[in-house]
Amino acid sequence: MKDLKGKNCFITGAASSKGIGRSLAIELAREGMNMYITDIDMEGLENVKKEIEELGVKVFTAKCDVSKFEDWKKCEEDFRSSLGDIDLLINNAGIAIGGSILELELEDWEKVLGINLWSIIYSLKTFVPKMMAKGSGHLVNVASGAGILGSSEPLPYVTSKFAIVGMSEALFGNLHGFGINVSIILPWVIATNIWTSSEVRVPQKLMEDFGAQKIEEITQKAREGFIENAVSPDEVAKIYVKEIKENKLYICDNKDYFNILELKGKPDQYERALKFMHAQSAKNTRDMYHKAGIKIEDYRKFF
Ligand SMILES: NC(=O)c1ccc[n+]([C@@H]2O[C@H](COP(=O)([O-])OP(=O)(O)OC[C@H]3O[C@@H](n4cnc5c(N)ncnc54)[C@H](O)[C@@H]3O)[C@@H](O)[C@H]2O)c1
Repeated sequence: MKDLKGKNCFITGAASSKGIGRSLAIELAREGMNMYITDIDMEGLENVKKEIEELGVKVFTAKCDVSKFEDWKKCEEDFRSSLGDIDLLINNAGIAIGGSILELELEDWEKVLGINLWSIIYSLKTFVPKMMAKGSGHLVNVASGAGILGSSEPLPYVTSKFAIVGMSEALFGNLHGFGINVSIILPWVIATNIWTSSEVRVPQKLMEDFGAQKIEEITQKAREGFIENAVSPDEVAKIYVKEIKENKLYICDNKDYFNILELKGKPDQYERALKFMHAQSAKNTRDMYHKAGIKIEDYRKFF
């Protein structure tokens, strides 16, 4: 889809003041696209709407909790009466919940998979049949580097993102013949709110001994440090939109992704890399607690 002017886009998770969704929506509006922006945060969404209005395109907002199929159905009807046919569908909303296998509850898995993965299945059921009937459209799923590289945490997040990548590759083949393009965006480390808003599960005893506030402060500080020099969502959105227009399957802001894919062709080296990454992540967690004066090994085993 080389020319986006006058075309219609539906995007999820667009309300975050420092989010990839907001930046993508603004960048697409700069190209002249009409935007239907959705989220669960209606206040944030109104702020983004004002920014988009200044760009002179049509913009509508709606609440879409992406983990609820009924929200999708309502939004699709409203989208059709507001803008008409859909040209670009972007599944961007996502969350992460950290913690080891021992601390993660089933509800955590269900929540992450509901928002990150089931949302995309719902979007397929809602919008894609009409795209197929029309014989045009573009589906963009926001995955992650964690969708091609099995980093050891956050486990439900990695699981969801691998599923998104696999599903999108399969859809790429399936939908090609119907005139529908599919792209997978693989953000690397981007300075957005996901890093500071994500929950982290920790051992119960650790919580009892130090209190939720202290643990939150420790993890928050580490995450803020992690994204201190990270690239901004506005910067990467320019790359993403350019590559959406070029109909690329894989859209990356960091060419290391292609090195990772290449490394997978050398299984022994890839296994070593996975073990190394896990060891590094465990070391970072230990260092984070040691710096705060907590001997984390008394609460959690590290291998
Ligand atoms: N920031 C990064 O470094 C990074 C890296 C890789 C992948 N990603 C992916 O990018 C996408 C956007 O995340 P972000 O980094 O901009 O984070 P963000 O937290 O800034 O934005 C996420 C948005 O999703 C919304 N959301 C959460 N739950 C929702 C629900 N149930 N229904 C609808 N919306 C919901 C939030 O309100 C928020 O506006 C996610 O899929 C994330 O996994 C981000």
